[in-house]
Amino acid sequence: MKIGPIGVWPPVVLAPMAGITNAPFRVLCREQGGGLFVCEMITTRALVERNPKTLRMVRFAPSETPRSIQLYGVDPDVVGRAVRMIAEEDLADHVDLNFGCPVPKVTRRGGGSALPYKRNLLRRILREAVAGAGSLPVTVKMRKGIDDDHLTYLDAGRIAAEEGVAAVALHARTARQHYGGVADWDAIARLKEAVPEIPVLGNGDIWSADDALRMVARTGCDGVVVGRGCLGRPWLFRDLQNAFDGSAERVRPALGEVAAMMLRHAEALVECFDAERSAVADFRKHVGWYLKGFAVGAEVRRELTSAESLDGLREGLSRLDAGQPWPPNTDTPRGKSGERSKVHLPDGWLDDPWDTAVPEAAESDVSGG
Ligand SMILES: Cc1cc2nc3c(=O)[nH]c(=O)nc-3n(C[C@H](O)[C@H](O)[C@H](O)COP(=O)(O)O)c2cc1C
Repeated sequence: MKIGPIGVWPPVVLAPMAGITNAPFRVLCREQGGGLFVCEMITTRALVERNPKTLRMVRFAPSETPRSIQLYGVDPDVVGRAVRMIAEEDLADHVDLNFGCPVPKVTRRGGGSALPYKRNLLRRILREAVAGAGSLPVTVKMRKGIDDDHLTYLDAGRIAAEEGVAAVALHARTARQHYGGVADWDAIARLKEAVPEIPVLGNGDIWSADDALRMVARTGCDGVVVGRGCLGRPWLFRDLQNAFDGSAERVRPALGEVAAMMLRHAEALVECFDAERSAVADFRKHVGWYLKGFAVGAEVRRELTSAESLDGLREGLSRLDAGQPWPPNTDTPRGKSGERSKVHLPDGWLDDPWDTAVPEAAESDVSGG
């Protein structure tokens, strides 16, 4: 698969996940296999204003190449400036734009998955982004639409192709579906038919490498984007490499190997955050994902999720049964789930799909989804 000038093999992308796909996690995943490994979502306004926290978030480890940054923005001018800054200051090799975020505080202000409904505004954003990027490829990540009555993905895909976007990724759910139900892989096939001229990446419900092969076979998509399936499971990228290389080999680490990976992950977070206590606290959310399916007593689990230092974590991990084999039936859903009863939108948002007014305050307090 080619994303602009970047050759990507296997045709796999680590989905941007706010609070998860920071440099430590990306490095662990990238060690396992090839692909693109996208950073957490970055707000364009915060980037152009050189917010110190945002600048820290766009730092990559030396081993990370190519470097992919995901941007979130609603104002064509600000998005253009942010992308130009990335290109001119050599902050990344690829820019992905987020039009899939379903979080109410984002859609309520017209951002994320609400934005592609405004076709002309989307076009203006993409035009500015592609112009600012110079030779860097720009990609789009989106959902099917707001809900089943307001689907946007086919129009958005065509607009993206017309504006020189290098690839489009479809999370095959509507905003209303949030993370619930089953991703509609047939929509990925329809998008591929609608924009045969650029790579289409399919996203949603890949829980194993074989799911990825199935998605490609069923939809004709050029590549896959893997999100929740790799939570607590960087090894999935080795499986994906094997699967696309035609090998049936799959990684099935025993609990000791999982514990070693957990410790490396936590240590890398401590180094990255430069603050042991908050890094170890941040690691808590990963514990359940790493241990999914293993027989681990409630007491050790509690110890691991309440540890306040690396030593505390090491102590808990040392009490795990290192020889316990990888549990069966772990290729099942993990992470966020559930539907929403409604999508919050700005007043009158659906009245005029061609309106180009830039939503106000859509970039405040935003953090992925
Ligand atoms: C914790 C979490 C954070 C996420 N943050 C982002 C984000 O910042 N940008 C984005 O485009 N998608 C984000 N997503 C959506 C994923 O990139 C992906 O599209 C979604 O999880 C569906 O893929 P999956 O079924 O493989 O998980 C997030 C998902 C999760 C679970």
